[in-house]
Amino acid sequence: MTRIAGIAEKVEKRTRIRTTEKDIENIISCLLKGREGSHFWEVVYLAQKPFNMVAETVGVLKEEGLVENSEDGMIRFTSAGQEFVKNEKIYPKRHYACPHCERRGLDLREFDDLIKRFENETEDRPKAILDYDQGYVTSRTVFGRIALMAERGDLEGKRLLVLGDDDLVSLAAGMSGLPEEVVVLEIDDRLVNYINKKAKELNLPVKAFKYDFRESLPEEFVGAFDTFTTDPPETIEALELVMKRGLASLKGEGCAGYFGLTKAESSMKKWNEFQRMLLNKFEVAITDIIEDFNHYVNWDYLLESIRDDYSFVQVEPRLNWYRSSMYRIETVSGFAGVDNKPQDCELYVDNEALIYKPVSLTK
Ligand SMILES: [Fe+2]
Repeated sequence: MTRIAGIAEKVEKRTRIRTTEKDIENIISCLLKGREGSHFWEVVYLAQKPFNMVAETVGVLKEEGLVENSEDGMIRFTSAGQEFVKNEKIYPKRHYACPHCERRGLDLREFDDLIKRFENETEDRPKAILDYDQGYVTSRTVFGRIALMAERGDLEGKRLLVLGDDDLVSLAAGMSGLPEEVVVLEIDDRLVNYINKKAKELNLPVKAFKYDFRESLPEEFVGAFDTFTTDPPETIEALELVMKRGLASLKGEGCAGYFGLTKAESSMKKWNEFQRMLLNKFEVAITDIIEDFNHYVNWDYLLESIRDDYSFVQVEPRLNWYRSSMYRIETVSGFAGVDNKPQDCELYVDNEALIYKPVSLTK
């Protein structure tokens, strides 16, 4: 067995996340990107791999004397490590992200003034809390979503359902003047009240209601919307249930759903399982997957909610490292709604979740 294969095997055993030699090479490549060393969160962002896979890979490299980390959280290759990457022919990560559109491929200049207004109006928004796995996206992301839906013909003059809205997409959509009506279904009372208050103040066609997506979608919202948008929790059970609720809300063929899926909390095995579930269970096509579309503002509770066994992990991020890919799905012929029964499920924690702590595993 090669040394890389040995590292992959150790990481997989500790994380129970399928880990390939290519994954290890990729993570090492990302670690090599910084000239003065690398910051853990930047490596997670660049690698586009599950947080726990990156953490354990760095952990194993450290145990094997290939990297070391200093007080400021910088991770550097030791001389043995430098020798190793040279022999393995691993090179620093290539990264060509477009700085103008932040990889979304959308020109948002038309929204510049609106983005400023949105930021001013929502300065008093509720803070992200752990109870509902919250963490909201940047204003440019919010308006990227507005622009994308508008460009695809899914927003202007249409009825939009927002399933869970700590991002305040509903208010942004209302402020854009594009949709005919926006309905928010949200579990957090603070957000329901906030969105309704702002919508009234600004005279927007936006209404929020309290809703837990484990319950059936209320009858008046079944088959009532052109478009839904959501940012689902990423256990496979939660993903399926959120898709059910979103699709139940759509009028029929040719309607669209938008949602984010990360690589930091979902491995390629989970992406595969999710995509098979989506296409096997529902009459939809996946029309778009745009990597890095959604950028999340760093949230206060990150470090206290995650593992504390690695010092290089317990450092404040220096960039908005948490990203997700934007999916767009469209209903196709044969689509006739979906079952709308109440259903319980594990929402937030699987072994790929950020807050999953692998304490029971032997090192
Ligand atoms: Fe660009």
